[in-house]
Amino acid sequence: MAREELLGDELMSPVETIDEVVDEPGLRPRTLDEFVGQAELKGHLGVMLGAAAKRRDPADHLLFAGPPGLGKTTLANIIAAEMGTHLQVTSGPALERAGDLASILSKLEEGDVLFIDEIHRLPRPVEEVLYPAMEDFQIDIVLGKGPAARSIPLDLAKFTLVGATTRTGLITGPLRDRFGLVARLDYYDVDDLQSIVTRAAQILDVDIDTEGAWEIARRSRGTPRIANRLLRQVRDYAEVERDGHIDAGVAADGLQFFGVDVLGLDKASRAVLDSVCRRFGGGPVGLSTLAISVSEPTETVEDVYEPYLIQQGLLMRTPRGRVATPAAYEHLGMIPPPVVGESPQPGLFDNGD
Ligand SMILES: Nc1ncnc2c1ncn2[C@@H]1O[C@H](COP(=O)(O)OP(=O)(O)O)[C@@H](O)[C@H]1O
Ligand SMILES: [Mg+2]
Repeated sequence: MAREELLGDELMSPVETIDEVVDEPGLRPRTLDEFVGQAELKGHLGVMLGAAAKRRDPADHLLFAGPPGLGKTTLANIIAAEMGTHLQVTSGPALERAGDLASILSKLEEGDVLFIDEIHRLPRPVEEVLYPAMEDFQIDIVLGKGPAARSIPLDLAKFTLVGATTRTGLITGPLRDRFGLVARLDYYDVDDLQSIVTRAAQILDVDIDTEGAWEIARRSRGTPRIANRLLRQVRDYAEVERDGHIDAGVAADGLQFFGVDVLGLDKASRAVLDSVCRRFGGGPVGLSTLAISVSEPTETVEDVYEPYLIQQGLLMRTPRGRVATPAAYEHLGMIPPPVVGESPQPGLFDNGD
């Protein structure tokens, strides 16, 4: 029987998040050299891809973890480009049944890169198809139902799986163990973000000086996607309200106009913080309660807003729930409440003034 008959020929559906739809496609770096920052990870990738090319083998499977907008999808594209192969894109939630994944796997060609975004959301039966595919480049196709069902092994072309996840904690042990490299992407420092803003400004033909780029960079919450978005907003502001040139002052005014504060928190991030401080007395408040209070899905609060608030020392995750730090109150221009019911800790809420 022909492969196509066995598997049907449903088309692969590349799944894009809303964020990716609003990303400017021309801004995505195409090569490792163009990819700014993450020096250690770039070093590892350079060696892995170089060695694989030398052996004329596909590269080992790779897992990228980290908050949205840090470059996971970009890296998957770069890997395929550097290896001179095709990239096939899908995502965990798009693969509902084992057959969906089997169909995609069976169509891969030698050396292809398969990118599975949000791989932590793969249903378990689908994930189980992935194990032998990753390890032995083989899957079992089940024909028929019930006692008459037969399973036929199918050899796959050798491919490289690139997985991306915002949650390493939700990746099962057996899946994680099958990746040759598990890399965490960290928030970018201001220097790297300044380079990203400058590069994007060149591509978009925006007139910005180094101080302007720095002002945008330091309010980008460590995130390239946000840096690009803020640059476009400030560009629009500069074109309409000013003469188009962006210096530090124009950038600051533009960002304020669009509701981005000095730490780079936008309205939504500030709402999370505000809710913990104002409505829940600084916490502890459970994640689901907090999410309802700001009308966002728990996943968004946990993956998109919280990591940066935690990194900035504004919010803490404790076993009893989320707790605002004195710095959060200070940032919101509020006075932290006194500690009640616990033995007083000298200096804990001391603002130093
Ligand atoms: N290291 C980087 N250097 C330059 N631009 C980057 C970098 N990482 C991400 N970007 C920019 O940010 C955007 C979002 O990155 P993306 O790879 O889609 O993030 P993720 O998949 O992790 O959510 C990209 O379109 C690209 O323009
Ligand atoms: Mg992505």
